[in-house]
Amino acid sequence: MNELEHPTGDPYGAKDGKDLISGITVFPMEPHVPRKADIDPKAAIRAERQVATMFGLSSLMIILFIVAYIQVPADLLITIPVIGTLNANHLAIGFTFGMAILLIGLGAIHWAKKLMPDEEVIQERHALTSTNEERAAVQSSLQRGAAESGFKERKIIRRSLLGALALFPVPLIVLLRDLGPLPGTRLRETIWDEGIHLVTDATYKKIKASDIPLGGLINAVPENLLEIEHEEHNLNQRGKASIIIVRMDPADIVSQQGEAWDYQGVLAFSKICTHLGCPTSLYQQRTHHLLCPCHQSTFDLSDSGNVVFGPAARRMPQLAITVDAEGYLVAQSGFNEPVGPSFWERG
Ligand code: FES
Repeated sequence: MNELEHPTGDPYGAKDGKDLISGITVFPMEPHVPRKADIDPKAAIRAERQVATMFGLSSLMIILFIVAYIQVPADLLITIPVIGTLNANHLAIGFTFGMAILLIGLGAIHWAKKLMPDEEVIQERHALTSTNEERAAVQSSLQRGAAESGFKERKIIRRSLLGALALFPVPLIVLLRDLGPLPGTRLRETIWDEGIHLVTDATYKKIKASDIPLGGLINAVPENLLEIEHEEHNLNQRGKASIIIVRMDPADIVSQQGEAWDYQGVLAFSKICTHLGCPTSLYQQRTHHLLCPCHQSTFDLSDSGNVVFGPAARRMPQLAITVDAEGYLVAQSGFNEPVGPSFWERG
């Protein structure tokens, strides 16, 4: 409540229907009628119980939400007249969570309407900046309002509200489960392994070092990709395992990610940009730079695939290669570090 006097001396700031300062028509306020709960302690207790019941029901709805989430089959369909066929699980968790939110809101409104201080307040409208006295008055008014709300004294309301609010985040945590299984190590692993042949992308032909001209680049995949071509996650595996093979003069190689990971100047690197995962194959044979077309990250393939320009934070992972008895290129092992974009799990 603002206890400051209006400059006109009129508590409503008005005379003959006009505000004396602004000239705006104002209407006198009706005489204040106390609420039942203000004058009847029994009504106050009844209102308090109603509020607590709503908060308690909100908690119950959260519990029912979890039960419905676990117990109602995700593929169960039910038919409701007029509305039609609905997924029972979605209906149950949507209804219970919605009711939990609604009941907290209704409880808060009921509390405010029935039990919190019910006083008409005259608000200063003309002063642009409050004086220190006015601020102090507002502060003490707020403090008194907080005290009069009964949050401390009305234990049953306080506890039921705190209980409802404490349970409120639970559905959000439960729903995280629906975002899918945790990735585990899947983002770190590819189907590359020791002895797997490097084959041309799309045509799956084994590659010999001599197939790659000096300064040339070939897009390649692991030979075992053919075995899982029709499996459900084939595209994921293809995306992670795609590589580029380049050939340069061995004398131009400054460094590699491991000892002797090339074969006579033939080097293999992941094709997936470590920035945001675009496929890269713009290779400049003179500088040995590999450019990502998306945001221009540039990797020096003659120097361990290190980033020389752009937003990528990690070097391009190198695949250690050698040749089999017939001279076809094979992997020495899988990748030594995760391929693809950096994310929170990757060092
Ligand atoms: S995805 Fe390659 S630079 Fe952004």
